Amino acid sequence: MMIRTIHVGCMGFAGGRLQGLALCKGLEPMACVDVEVEAAKEAVRELQARFPDWFPAGFEKRVYRTIREALERHEAEACLIYAPTTVHAELVVESLSLGLHTLCVKPIATSQAEFRSIVEAHRARPELLLVQGQNKRWNPAAAKMREWLQEPHGIGTFLGGECRFWIRQNLSRQKPKIPDVYLEGLFFHSAASHQLDQLVAALGLPAFVTARVHRRRDESLGQRGVWGTAGGAAMLEFESGVCFCYTGTRAGHGSPFWWSGSWTFHGEEGDILRDGGHLQLFRRGEVVEDVNLQDLHPGLIEDDRIQFEAFARAIATGEGREWLQGTTLDTWILMEACNVSARNGERVDVAAFKEEMFGKGY
Ligand SMILES: NC(=O)c1ccc[n+]([C@@H]2O[C@H](COP(=O)([O-])OP(=O)(O)OC[C@H]3O[C@@H](n4cnc5c(N)ncnc54)[C@H](O)[C@@H]3O)[C@@H](O)[C@H]2O)c1
Repeated sequence: MMIRTIHVGCMGFAGGRLQGLALCKGLEPMACVDVEVEAAKEAVRELQARFPDWFPAGFEKRVYRTIREALERHEAEACLIYAPTTVHAELVVESLSLGLHTLCVKPIATSQAEFRSIVEAHRARPELLLVQGQNKRWNPAAAKMREWLQEPHGIGTFLGGECRFWIRQNLSRQKPKIPDVYLEGLFFHSAASHQLDQLVAALGLPAFVTARVHRRRDESLGQRGVWGTAGGAAMLEFESGVCFCYTGTRAGHGSPFWWSGSWTFHGEEGDILRDGGHLQLFRRGEVVEDVNLQDLHPGLIEDDRIQFEAFARAIATGEGREWLQGTTLDTWILMEACNVSARNGERVDVAAFKEEMFGKGY
């Protein structure tokens, strides 16, 4: 069963997602939404000309200014949101209110008030699937790490680990007002979430978090010293007392680890070492598996195709639905808990914070 889908955002990074949608088996592109309607039509026309078999005939004409307008003209069950970060929450609320299963690229919200508005809208339509898009958990390297953390043939009982994320990302060349450098707290929500989402996807939420942020100003990278935008560290404590340490920066002096990061995990039965797509499983002094797998696909189109297929499957059959919705929203909770901890200099009880954000009975 194909899930008829409206796609929000047609240009820039969003345009690549439109390619992911077209390639995906399970979602059927019905219409696009973009505030820059004419420019978006042109972008879709170019895509249509390059890949004539990907979209339905005349698709380039199906670009509208709002989700409601698109839905008035085309039937749909789902919506993918790839507009700028500052409008995510209002678009998610609109999409849910119109009865659409919704996947919105991270961060789904930039403040606790925005997150609560989404929870309210979802509370009114709980049958709809709501997902925070996290494209970096889907590639084969990320999937292999998750398998070794979850399956009996992996590391066994988890004893501890760490992740280092280190890139030199020049945001000064991008739009003058890219939210990642002017909105407080976006290091955890838009950079660290790429790695820590993979941890939440495999091991769930920790019980406590203690975090701090870097104070970094480097105009050549676009870093203006806005709180919580450049880098940070977090110690995650799981229920069993096991700790996981994270340190990351998007404003580094080099780029040795990139978006996937460098990871180690210790377990009763084995240890994992991962650098990007290179993963090794150690057991009793031996390397028992050593693999080089596809890490992030160029342009992330393949990563998103896989993500969209999982979204479609969850809607059509229910497969993975609870995990997909639960763990991706939990990643938002964990990232915001990191911000709360760093702001207040406190150790945050993650379950209590989650209940505060969702309210009772969600
Ligand atoms: N997960 C990742 O790997 C990753 C990578 C890059 C960007 N992103 C995220 O993707 C999102 C989009 O990034 P971008 O660089 O493509 O942004 P962008 O500013 O280029 O906007 C994307 C598109 O949305 C349109 N748009 C703007 N406001 C809109 C609105 N109110 N309704 C409908 N359409 C609207 C724009 O015209 C544009 O076509 C951001 O949230 C960004 O953080 C994620």
